[in-house]
This record gives sequence, structure tokens and C-alpha cells, in this order.
Amino acid sequence: MTMKIAVFVSGGGTNLQAIIDNIRNGYLNGVSISLVVASNSEAYALTRAAENNIPSTVLSAKSFTSREAWDDAVLKAVTDSGAELIVLAGYLSLLGEKTVKAYSNRIINIHPALIPSFCGAGMYGIKPHKAVLARGVKVSGATVHYVNEKYDEGPIILQKAVDVLPDDTPESLQKRIMKECEQVILPKAIRLIADGKVTIENNIAYVKE
Ligand code: GAR
Repeated sequence: MTMKIAVFVSGGGTNLQAIIDNIRNGYLNGVSISLVVASNSEAYALTRAAENNIPSTVLSAKSFTSREAWDDAVLKAVTDSGAELIVLAGYLSLLGEKTVKAYSNRIINIHPALIPSFCGAGMYGIKPHKAVLARGVKVSGATVHYVNEKYDEGPIILQKAVDVLPDDTPESLQKRIMKECEQVILPKAIRLIADGKVTIENNIAYVKE
């Protein structure tokens, strides 16, 4: 398998690091990161990209005259890099319409909860974990799904769950879900896609392992 991916980030970049590590250790053999796109210049993920000699760019909607101009710039950067798949790895902005259309069924996202629970607009970062504890649910986890024009509604590729423990805080739950769920299923989904093992029919993703 060979596949170039563009990884979109907004923060710490632990999911980006998991992808880099899995390319290094051969699990994602043939996959390469053609570009890291950050939504802001403070994202520590940019340091991780630099340390690993991966090209990166900061494209913040705020610094463009319109959302359309920003969307055009994002699409051009990704297309120019040769990326075949866009991976939203802790990317906290909504992608532009043109980019979503141009990369239809070729954009995936990692969400830190079990969709369709605790997702949608406003449910990002630590917030789903706070909501999970406030509701008292007993399992949570992470979901990798395809991205369409609506928040967190595209076909689900993989999910992984962990127990919510009685003494969990939002932070302890977030940390466990990142390590045991996100950093496992995001590289796995990329590998399955690179191997041609994921198909979509009627908004359902089918995985042949
Ligand atoms: C991760 O927990 C990711 O699932 C979440 O942001 C965090 C980023 O961490 N994404 C969302 O909330 C998207 N709706 P990272 O920058 O260390 O990978």
C-alpha cells in the first residue's frame, strides 16, 4: 500500500504523533504525511511536524478576507501536497464546503466519544468528557468516522470503548480515551483505508479486516 495523507491539527498533536510513530514502526508502512495543516500557529502539533521533517502550514480562517478564500487556500494546499486522504486529528474547526466536496469520502475524523452520543457542534476537546461524567454513563470511548457537511454525522468506521470509572475526572477520562482508544483506532482506520478494506454504501461504512 502507498498513500499520502494530510493531517489537520489544532492542539497538542498526540494523534499526529501516534500516526508518525506507526509510520516509523512499520504498522503504516507505505503511508506518508504530505502536509500538516494547523488551524492556529500555537498548536504544539506544529513542533512535532518540524521535529519529524514533515511540511506544515498554518491556515486560520480568521486571517483570510472570507471563509471562501480560506476554503480555497486549504484545498489548494492539500491538493498541491498530493494528499489522497485528509485526516482530522484533533482539528477543532469545521472544514470548508469546497474541501469537503473535493475530498468526498476521503476525509476522516477522530471524535473523543461514542457517536451518536456526546457529539455535534460544541462537543470537542474536554467537553464530551465533562458531559459523559455529568450524565453518569458507564462507558465512553472514541469514534473514527468519515466527514460530510454535518458535524460528526458521516459513516462510522471504527469505535473503541473504555469503562468510565467511579473516580474519573474529565481529564483522567480524556487521557485514558486518548491513549487506549484514539491512538489505537485512528492509525488502524488509516491502515484499513490504505489497504482498500473500507467501503461506503448508503451512509454506512463496511470494514473488511
Ligand atoms: C483529541 O481528544 C481529539 O479526539 C479531539 O481533540 C483532541 C486533540 O488532541 N477532537 C475533537 O474533539 C474533534 N471534535 P491531540 O491534538 O493531542 O491529538
